[in-house]
Amino acid sequence: MTSAEIREAFLRYFETQGHTRVASSSLVPANDPTLLFTNAGMNQFKDCFLGLEKRDYVRATSSQKCVRAGGKHNDLDNVGYTARHHTFFEMLGNFSFGDYFKQDAIKFAWDFLTSEQWLGLPKDKLYVTVYHTDDEAFDIWNKDIGLDASRIIRIGDNKGEKYASDNFWAMGDTGPCGPCSEIFFDHGDHIWGGLPGSAEEDGDRFIEIWNNVFMQFNRTADGVLHPLPAPSVDTGMGLERVSAVLQHVNSNYEIDLFQHLLKAAAEIIAVDVTALQAEAAQKGVAFDYPASLKVVADHARSCCFLIADGVNPSNEGRGYVLRRIIRRAVRHGNKMGATGTFFYKMLKPLIEVMGTAYPELEQLSERIESILIREEELFAKTLEQGLKLLEGELANLKGKVIAGETVFKLYDTYGFPTDLTADIARERGLEIDEAGFEKEMAAQRQRARDAGKFAVDYNSVVNVDSETQFEGYDATQGQGKIIALYKDGQEVNEVHEGDEALIVLDQTPFYAESGGQVGDTGLFKNDSGIFEVQDTKKSGAAFVHQGIVTMGSLKVQQAVEATVQADLRVATARNHSATHLLHAALRQILGEHVQQKGSLVASDVLRFDFANDQPVSFETLQQVERLVNAEIIANSVVNTELLAIDAAKEKGAMMLFGEKYGNEVRVLSMGSIIDEKNFSIELCGGIHVKRTGDIGLFKITSESGVAAGIRRIEAVTGSKALELVQKADSDIQQINGFLKAQKDQTVERVQAAVEQNSLLQKHIEQLNQKLANLQANELLGQVQTIAGRSTLITHVEGMDAKALRHLHDGIKSKLDNAVIVLVATDADKISLIASVAKAYTANIKAGDIIKHLATELGGKGGGKPDLAQGGAPLNEKFDAVMANLPAWLAQH
Ligand code: ALA
Repeated sequence: MTSAEIREAFLRYFETQGHTRVASSSLVPANDPTLLFTNAGMNQFKDCFLGLEKRDYVRATSSQKCVRAGGKHNDLDNVGYTARHHTFFEMLGNFSFGDYFKQDAIKFAWDFLTSEQWLGLPKDKLYVTVYHTDDEAFDIWNKDIGLDASRIIRIGDNKGEKYASDNFWAMGDTGPCGPCSEIFFDHGDHIWGGLPGSAEEDGDRFIEIWNNVFMQFNRTADGVLHPLPAPSVDTGMGLERVSAVLQHVNSNYEIDLFQHLLKAAAEIIAVDVTALQAEAAQKGVAFDYPASLKVVADHARSCCFLIADGVNPSNEGRGYVLRRIIRRAVRHGNKMGATGTFFYKMLKPLIEVMGTAYPELEQLSERIESILIREEELFAKTLEQGLKLLEGELANLKGKVIAGETVFKLYDTYGFPTDLTADIARERGLEIDEAGFEKEMAAQRQRARDAGKFAVDYNSVVNVDSETQFEGYDATQGQGKIIALYKDGQEVNEVHEGDEALIVLDQTPFYAESGGQVGDTGLFKNDSGIFEVQDTKKSGAAFVHQGIVTMGSLKVQQAVEATVQADLRVATARNHSATHLLHAALRQILGEHVQQKGSLVASDVLRFDFANDQPVSFETLQQVERLVNAEIIANSVVNTELLAIDAAKEKGAMMLFGEKYGNEVRVLSMGSIIDEKNFSIELCGGIHVKRTGDIGLFKITSESGVAAGIRRIEAVTGSKALELVQKADSDIQQINGFLKAQKDQTVERVQAAVEQNSLLQKHIEQLNQKLANLQANELLGQVQTIAGRSTLITHVEGMDAKALRHLHDGIKSKLDNAVIVLVATDADKISLIASVAKAYTANIKAGDIIKHLATELGGKGGGKPDLAQGGAPLNEKFDAVMANLPAWLAQH
């Protein structure tokens, strides 16, 4: 089975068991400041486990993009050196929010893994672990599943303190956690490694493929475990590891997807894989790609996906981790001989293997490439600067040891690799103070761990007993009393100018992020100070205003005048109502299967994810736009009612996830009346326009896929929509200007220009071929005899490697039984190609000629006995090397 087939089988299996398929969330966790990157499938469901959020399903399944390169779960330094660690991987998972527990979780896992209808793994290759005191899980495995007790291993607190165990899983230092039961696959005794709990457990023989976490607690920052409202289940199965098992290979790097990436990395860096394979064969060992290529292949995935999810390389937080991963990849590429920028070229092969499941890679390819190129160039400069700095330090050095602090500063501040510092030191008969460097590193690791705690955890900081009354449905201004204040994660009585703080009011007009609608921004003011609200979020029943004191100070119990930034609020309301109309229009046009899978309502854009197998065609999107705009023009009143949940269902309201439905629900009805029902009726706690006409204009900006079976529409409204239409208009105006076309001739003229262009292209190709032919004929006159062999040595100018290859093929078709060496130079590069007729390869090999030239010229190259290619930077040795070539050929 391919990785793609395994992904689909997993999701389908859990759908047949009543689970709702949910799209992967972004690698940048939404609304969770405690987490550096999404590191597990359960992250997006954290609030469901905590009982803070109810959705319209209690069983879910997903394939989640994960990055483990910082914070609590960090595999960065292992990558490349084990068969199973990655910075980026996909985690398949099934989840129960207070629905089924241990019994069913174990049964599902076993059924999917072993039943012939699904993965059909041999049972005698599987082992499981349970948390040492979890007799219940032990008995389920032993009695219900029938697994022999010798295959069930109890693992205790093997990490130094209570609940610090391989079999007690926690998302981070705070949040949902619980005992777990892992399933291991035995790859066979030809591989080193032992069962979990044994001294050899770190080997690659027994690999964990599935983790069943029995979520039971919420850990708060003070280390206390609070029972969750209801026992739940969170599972994770690494797609790459399971693919290795099903594809009968021992390492994740041997699966279909990674083989493709490794091959591409070798080509991009111009690593001679054939030579490495021959070397392995000679030693009698199986061929394996070098660790550095694995690092490049692995890191390409995390870097491209992180950039696609909006992370930019920088010097802090997430951006810093991304920067470190890119630099690690570049360093390993350089080690393999890469020159110039190369890493960005990994995006293309990545799209080839993952672009279907994750269309964002293709959609954002330009952005990803340009960010990678810029970062690679920056790193090259950094290395140069570091070298200068090191020279300065060396000039002032007394004694023979470079201080650990200096080595660390170079490494940490300038990104200058330590092994390079050590190399340079060695060349000058100096040493580096390794112990001193290690001490600095340990201190930095501690800082990184602290940074992993990242930001305030609302869940653990804010006292959930506080309650806020929301007054903002009809107002953007109001009075509120400060009932709680937090600074640096601590409850405080007073905050001062410059402090970043969290403020809870007893009542507020600020909308707190929920149901996809972003939190409000604005100002709090009173006689003693001003607070700028940058975001508003919910924590239990409290509304937490996050921001900064810009003047004076604020105290608990003080009253404030709270003012929401009204223009943004109005723009957000337009987008929210338009989202409801869009949802209804899609259901009317595409069918009732269209279900909301997620949404984002901000002031500048709306995004709507929904279930649909096919992409929506351009014509259909236009039809949807027409229907939504017809409802806008009809300008009907938007109605809000509070109804009992049953009455709302009766009315035909759609129940959406992400909302907390109490006994009484808020029902939004809008649009024309069809069969006595409004065009759109939804339960919603969000902010909406008064009449549909307030939306102004609705315009779709994109339609794309976010996961198998889930599509995404983005759209704009109001003045943003007008801006978009005007931009399209002025683009056409410009195009007409270029083409000297009249207003309605644009399409016809562009079409004609494109056709003419392709005709010209063909023409040029024909001419080029003719030219190469003529040139080849001309060059035939230069054939000489060296060591009894017809030999043609030629240097041409202004040609790249591809053109040189064409020229070579032209000559070869006219010149039998010869040795041909063609060398081209252009602005700063030398391209080399050589071929040797079969009759001569016993004596002289094309690969050797190229290796000789490349070595002499300080470049690279190689190939087969009859044909080889290479290249080198243009340098002053060129003339001498070429002049000596006939003599060299004569000796071979
Ligand atoms: N969340 C669990 C893990 O990551 C399933 O292992």
